[in-house]
Amino acid sequence: SITRHYKFDIQRKNVTRLCHTRSIVTVNGEFPGPKIVAREGDRVIVRVVNHVKNNVTIHWHGVRQIQTGWADGPAYVTQCPIQTGQSYVYNFTIVGQRGTLFWHAHISWMRVTLYGPIIILPKRGVPYPFAKPYKEIPIMFGEWFNTDPEAVIAQALQTGAGPNVSDAYTINGLPGPLYNCSKDTFKLKVKPGKTYLLRMVNAALNDELFFSIANHTLTVVDVDAIYTKPFKTDIILITPGQTTNVLLQTKPSLPCASFLMAARPYATGLGAFDNTTTAGLLEYLPPGVSSPSTPSKNLTLSRPTLPSLNDTAFAANFTGKLRSLANAQFPANVPQTVDRRFYFTVGLGTSPCPTNQTCQGPNGTKFAASVNNISFALPSTALLQAHFFGQSKGVYTTDFPSNPPFPFNYTGTPPNNSFVTNGTKLVVLPFNASVELVMQDTSIQGIESHPLHLHGFNFFVVGQGFGNYDPAKDPAKFNLADPIERNTVGVPAGGWVAIRFRADNPGVWFMHCHLDVHTVWGLRMAWVVNDGPLPSQKLLPPPSDLPKC
Ligand code: C2O
Repeated sequence: SITRHYKFDIQRKNVTRLCHTRSIVTVNGEFPGPKIVAREGDRVIVRVVNHVKNNVTIHWHGVRQIQTGWADGPAYVTQCPIQTGQSYVYNFTIVGQRGTLFWHAHISWMRVTLYGPIIILPKRGVPYPFAKPYKEIPIMFGEWFNTDPEAVIAQALQTGAGPNVSDAYTINGLPGPLYNCSKDTFKLKVKPGKTYLLRMVNAALNDELFFSIANHTLTVVDVDAIYTKPFKTDIILITPGQTTNVLLQTKPSLPCASFLMAARPYATGLGAFDNTTTAGLLEYLPPGVSSPSTPSKNLTLSRPTLPSLNDTAFAANFTGKLRSLANAQFPANVPQTVDRRFYFTVGLGTSPCPTNQTCQGPNGTKFAASVNNISFALPSTALLQAHFFGQSKGVYTTDFPSNPPFPFNYTGTPPNNSFVTNGTKLVVLPFNASVELVMQDTSIQGIESHPLHLHGFNFFVVGQGFGNYDPAKDPAKFNLADPIERNTVGVPAGGWVAIRFRADNPGVWFMHCHLDVHTVWGLRMAWVVNDGPLPSQKLLPPPSDLPKC
């Protein structure tokens, strides 16, 4: 293994989409940002220098950060933000992961323009567990706002109302031909009869997406940098925070043909979703030519069929098919016994409107979001520092409840989950505890699914279902053999999901809904994992350039 060095200069750049030119925050003037390429086992060192007025941090989403919690990145959780004119070096090793992850800013809504792929290749000489692709292409979904997204979220937080939705979804930063005044389209140029590996990332702020390519079938081989049992599908579902590698087999002979690829949201319940479609082109090159000589003309293209906005049946069916590869070379180390059990209700709620504000939530309240009715408040210093230096007093408490304050029941009318309290409460886990967590979706206005992301760990999705979780019956149906292993899971709309993980990584680890509007409303919490007895089980001291608050 080797060390890979990168430099990220956070700087502004004028970018035009949908006939609107805005000064956006970028890494090195690139949008989407540069890709990080490493092999399993490599060390990655990224020096981030902040040249803009906004505070920033960068998170290496899905990278396990064994013993290197200081490099994880969520603002006020593992570090104070990098302020204007300051820099910070993120230094971590990629252990036991191969596939696609991504990096993104982890403060406020800055990740809307600050994101890029992390490509993790297998160790040198180790093949993929599938046929070697002819080419590998990152496909990143995102969102474009014609106005400043920081102003959008600031206003939403002020008024307690839902924020404005974005103006377009994007594929590799480009909205594509189905939007008005959209000049740029992502084009994937392919040769006939070849296999391409598409490394797909959903970096959108607030929407789970369906994706498909007209007349082509995709084979899922890896999610969240974990190999899966391959399965064929015409459509994939990908939530913010998830990554999915698929193989695309091109047709034997189709010179110059073009097909539309498209993505649009899966959202349920609340009406405030943009139901528009981003599209790109799959273009077959003429025979014997490796780049197109003529611009593609025929735009009467076949369009892929995508599920409708509320197609929960498709979503459940798709996620139900995902399985870990779970063979001798890539075993699934699912915890077979449980040391600590948790049951969390996750969803939207409301909190009283502060007296000096006009709030636009239901009945004069303010929108909030919570886990076990606690809307998590970020401290003004970093939780990890407070933990490491034994200075938690006044920063956080360790009484996060293992269960909600009253039982949640879908058949009750209305579900009594609407009022939340604020708090900075954490759960403390002993090193190496085996944890089972059931997350039950709650909603006061319709039903909405929440992609929950856990930092510092992968977890196994051992069960999921609709309605109320039944602790007497449901565990008997858990898959403890080859459940999918990942870092972000959709808590199903109107249902629950059960995950297991081993708390073998010391530090403070954020868990939150990866819909950023829900994150800032408080659908977040954090776990403290204590050190283990061995030197390799202890959180190392912070680097000397760790930013100060
Ligand atoms: Cu991708 Cu806490 O984030």
